[in-house]
Amino acid sequence: MQLLDGKVASAAIKEKVKSLVAERLQQGKKAPHLAAILVGTDGASETYVASKVKTCEELGFASTLIRMDSDTTEAALLEQIEALNANDDVDGILVQLPLPKHISEAKVIETIHPNKDVDGFHPVSVGRLVQGLESFIPATPYGITLMLEQYNIPTSGKHAVVIGRSNIVGRPMSILLSSQHPYGNCTVTVCHSKTANLKELTLQADIIVAALGRPGFLTGDMVKEGAVIIDVGITRVPDASKKKGFAIKGDVDFDSVAPKSSWITPVPGGVGLMTIGALMMNTLAASDRR
Ligand code: GUN
Repeated sequence: MQLLDGKVASAAIKEKVKSLVAERLQQGKKAPHLAAILVGTDGASETYVASKVKTCEELGFASTLIRMDSDTTEAALLEQIEALNANDDVDGILVQLPLPKHISEAKVIETIHPNKDVDGFHPVSVGRLVQGLESFIPATPYGITLMLEQYNIPTSGKHAVVIGRSNIVGRPMSILLSSQHPYGNCTVTVCHSKTANLKELTLQADIIVAALGRPGFLTGDMVKEGAVIIDVGITRVPDASKKKGFAIKGDVDFDSVAPKSSWITPVPGGVGLMTIGALMMNTLAASDRR
């Protein structure tokens, strides 16, 4: 078993982006500018957004963080997005999800201009991805392909089983893995909560992407010898022994799965670290395309 180390792989991506940004600045071009909107004070969302803004600083990007109260109206949020759409200095816009229940995520996502949709959640971005056109790829699946690329994990002709069909991870991951792409060309099975014979399917998988948000769900008895295991889970589980009072748990039961796998991502320290690098790649691309 070998670890797919998010620390190593994300550092390489960040270095690459940092030098590309420095090159742009030397050519007299402006720094790529990411605007993030955070509605409310959810602990995990606060952490993710803070980390995105910090990475912007590290890599030479400009960033703007807009905070809105959890009781902010949908209209006020849409107006804020429209203002960022119209702001020529802003290259990428992201609205941190989840949003309060009274706000439609679909409406918010559709309001972001597709040219600034660095999360890749807009229907135009998804449609372009499905058709194999140049597109913004959602950060988590994009980060996973960057990780496979960094570690030279072959995917062509392999059977990939994706567990989860969310718009953020499972669905775009399944599209990428089946696409004509250096880290695609897989035969893909998408599993979800209504899949009847999950274990039968995972036992056939050369690559498993676990993205269902259930800590420890994938166990050793569900995995073929030599499989590549990608764990997307990042659930906060109460743990009194930890300083913050919680531990981060993946969807994979590492202790039973790792000995059977050829490669496996740890949690924490795996896929989670790749997503920000992928977001920065998208923001740089947004800036280049404008
Ligand atoms: N919430 C969980 N993942 C993401 C993401 O990639 N982007 C945004 N905007 N919100 C998220």
